[in-house]
Amino acid sequence: MRFFPLALSLSAGLVAAQNSCSVYDVAGTCISTEECAAAGKTSTPNFCPNDPADVQCCTTTPNPEIPTSNCQPHVVEHGKTILEANKGAVHVVWCYANKSGEHGKGLALDFMVGSYNPKGQVLAEWVMENHESLDVMYIIWGQKIWNPSNGEAPTPWENWRDMEDRGSVTDNHWDHPHVSFNAA
Ligand SMILES: *[C@@H]1O[C@H](CO)[C@@H](O)[C@H](O)[C@H]1NC(C)=O
Repeated sequence: MRFFPLALSLSAGLVAAQNSCSVYDVAGTCISTEECAAAGKTSTPNFCPNDPADVQCCTTTPNPEIPTSNCQPHVVEHGKTILEANKGAVHVVWCYANKSGEHGKGLALDFMVGSYNPKGQVLAEWVMENHESLDVMYIIWGQKIWNPSNGEAPTPWENWRDMEDRGSVTDNHWDHPHVSFNAA
């Protein structure tokens, strides 16, 4: 008789563990995208691997800050504009990193959306459509690059130039659009 309640609470714990998920350290629940939208929250795919495709990790709608440390002021402002127009897509934003290229100059932003999240393509194409006012140098999403400084005209992501396979989801930009900006 005493071990019956213990067994019950153990199985309740297992159910809770199956339903919980986290997206970039934000705790969420694996529920249908419909139920999540009705709650005014954000669904992110590929964080509930054992569930059907319409069950995704549901979290409060993220409202990330653009990191200002070593990030150029005009890049921070353009980043805010991009987030404002793409609400509920981005969980974390990175700017400066001690490496070569625009990140090392505080001229690039990584918008972390989660692996293979279709919202990444939507954001990347929105940035392309607004590249003039945002003074964009180039954009990468899903192992493809669009570079207006090479004279490339706006075109759907499918038509962007293919990039080499760099090995990982992150290195191939399948979990974040990368946007490089021109110097002010
Ligand atoms: C930046 O990276 C270089 C090369 O990897 C390294 O030598 C240097 O110590 C790093 N600087 C900082 C502040 O971490």
